[in-house]
Amino acid sequence: MFVYPVILSQDKFVHRDSLNYPFEERSMQFGDGVYEVIRIYNGTYYLLDEHVDRLYRSAEAIKINLDLDKDKLIALLHDLMERNNMTEDGKVYLQVTRGSAPRDHVFPLDAAPNMYAYVVKVPRNTELLSNGVATITHRDIRWEYCFIKSLNLLPNVLAKQEAKDHHCYEAILHKDGLVTECSASNVYLVKNGSIYTHPATENILHGCVRMRVEQFTNDLQIPFIEEAFRIEDIGKADELFLTSSTSEVLPIIEVDGQQIADGKPGNITKKLQAAYEKDANILNKSTVNQ
Ligand code: PDD
Repeated sequence: MFVYPVILSQDKFVHRDSLNYPFEERSMQFGDGVYEVIRIYNGTYYLLDEHVDRLYRSAEAIKINLDLDKDKLIALLHDLMERNNMTEDGKVYLQVTRGSAPRDHVFPLDAAPNMYAYVVKVPRNTELLSNGVATITHRDIRWEYCFIKSLNLLPNVLAKQEAKDHHCYEAILHKDGLVTECSASNVYLVKNGSIYTHPATENILHGCVRMRVEQFTNDLQIPFIEEAFRIEDIGKADELFLTSSTSEVLPIIEVDGQQIADGKPGNITKKLQAAYEKDANILNKSTVNQ
């Protein structure tokens, strides 16, 4: 994994080797913070405003007051790319915590939020995008505020590891059989030409790519039905796919060892992949349209 050398720390730029992070820090001791992962194509952010808006919504939901305004943060993120001469495909990891303070569960009175952001090189996984991925199902044991992009990711980490242990890409999470999302992505089922996905309630992260996919379906006149489907519906699905900033629109061709339809990425999924590539202005069209 290649991390670009310049890191944004608060509103300053530092070299990654000189970043000294305090050990009494709320993110490390309580997971007390929020984050974003923003995709970059050819050195340009994709859905930057949407991610920054969600960061502020997440921070507000856990009562972290960011004194930096949105425009200033966006300017700093652009500056971060320039200082790293970043012109490739990658992502930015951006984290805001409640700050550094002696360990105590209650909010510290005099701590200011800590923020940092760094850039990682991430090539598109064209092979997976063309061929699709296998997944498992897993119980959703997370809390009730999954719309907050919180640093508390232990249930997500455990579910994703379970998927990896089964040589799978993702874990499809369900609460009593009702599918919510995946460990690090949103999930959709296609049946008779309509797309079904869990409504954007407190039980899922409101994905930036999900929001965009909904717009693509409007343009393509594909019904987008915000209605949770059940684990039992998966076996009868025509198509299944997931979305996230790093996975894009990714076909799911297998769940718990069972093939979905003919085991190949479906037509609606492919149409959405093409819409995504156009929207993200991805010049390298080597994936779905070949
Ligand atoms: N994950 N649901 C969960 C639980 C997620 O963690 C993510 C993103 C998504 C998709 O959100 P978006 O479309 O805004 O990327 C849905 C990021 C990529 C991560 O944690 O690495």
